[in-house]
Amino acid sequence: MYNIIDDFSLRGHNTFGLECVAAKFAEYTDEKDLPSLWSEIEDLRLPAFHIGEGSNILFTGRYEGVVVSSNILDMEMIPTGGGEVSITAGAGIKLDNLIERCCDAGLWGLENLSLIPGTVGASVVQNVGAYGRDASDSVLKVRVFDTQSKRFLTLDPEECQFGYRTSMFKQPANKGRYVVVNVTYRLSALPEPHLDYGNLGAMLKDRNELTPVDVRNAVIEVRRNKLPDPAEVGSAGSYFTNPVVTREQFDELLKKSQKLWGSDVNVPHWVTDNGVKISAAWMLDRLGWKGRKIGGAMVWPSQPLVIVNADGKATAADIISLERSIVSDVESQLGVTLRPEVEKVPLV
Ligand code: EPU
Repeated sequence: MYNIIDDFSLRGHNTFGLECVAAKFAEYTDEKDLPSLWSEIEDLRLPAFHIGEGSNILFTGRYEGVVVSSNILDMEMIPTGGGEVSITAGAGIKLDNLIERCCDAGLWGLENLSLIPGTVGASVVQNVGAYGRDASDSVLKVRVFDTQSKRFLTLDPEECQFGYRTSMFKQPANKGRYVVVNVTYRLSALPEPHLDYGNLGAMLKDRNELTPVDVRNAVIEVRRNKLPDPAEVGSAGSYFTNPVVTREQFDELLKKSQKLWGSDVNVPHWVTDNGVKISAAWMLDRLGWKGRKIGGAMVWPSQPLVIVNADGKATAADIISLERSIVSDVESQLGVTLRPEVEKVPLV
């Protein structure tokens, strides 16, 4: 079943908590709705934009199109032998609700992603990640509706082309083409803890017989200490991605940093297949951005990658102006270009 509402307020559908209106808003509960919903959208001759929980979006003004949202909430667990379980979850389920259920059932795989805002559907588009794990590490397949061919497809992880905070679904040529219907994860009843990131291992070192709930609780504790509580302060999580640069660019950054802050300075970085990933939070911290404000937009004091709607009165213009000041400061002082992870709709 689906319904389409005119002049719909999106305040409850973006985690920044910004007021903005969509010309039309459509919500559906079953994959069977998608072919008819899409032909109705085509008849309206309006653009469509599919949202998850709106946790990675900055609505910049009225959206003259149809904002679409999945309310597919089915979930199925199937043991596949050898302690493995395959879980198929509807795209509309909140990722953290799914993770809580999996951890409570003693299943390993998603616990490091605890408390990440967003839906199951959005989590594969964005390939969300935290504490050393990405959603794609546990994905077995993704069922989608192709709005071009009007067919349902089942994609394996290779076809999804997952990368750092990206996937095939985000490529410009595919933008808006595929609607995620559900995601199947491979989880395990046998212990598979991943505790290498930050102080996660240290926090849990005295536990014997570790459970996924223990790891989930530790992740939740770290997040609560560093990130704003979504129930109290609006944000979209990390506003920027960590830049991935060449070895030469990294050496240049190191030189500049040592000139600014002394020869013993080290830039936190991780060598990846695509280059050197550098910590944007570290650069913002060093450049003194923590707690700085423009209008109602503020850099979060304990994790400067996060821009918040400090008093609930920020406008999209405040947030964009803070973004631009940060980008130009980092560029001019350190020679690195920060890219927003947050998507602007409509694009400005
Ligand atoms: N750091 C500082 N000062 C700070 C904060 C961090 O210097 O105030 C440095 C530290 O050296 C730290 C490093 O930055 O070791 C990394 O910080 P953190 O562990 O908080 O991770 P991050 O790279 O800043 C990423 C994700 C977060 C995720 C954390 C933890 C991105 C864009 N962000 O942040 O994800 O929670 O790792 O895994 O990759 C999100 O994407 O919305 C998000 C919150």
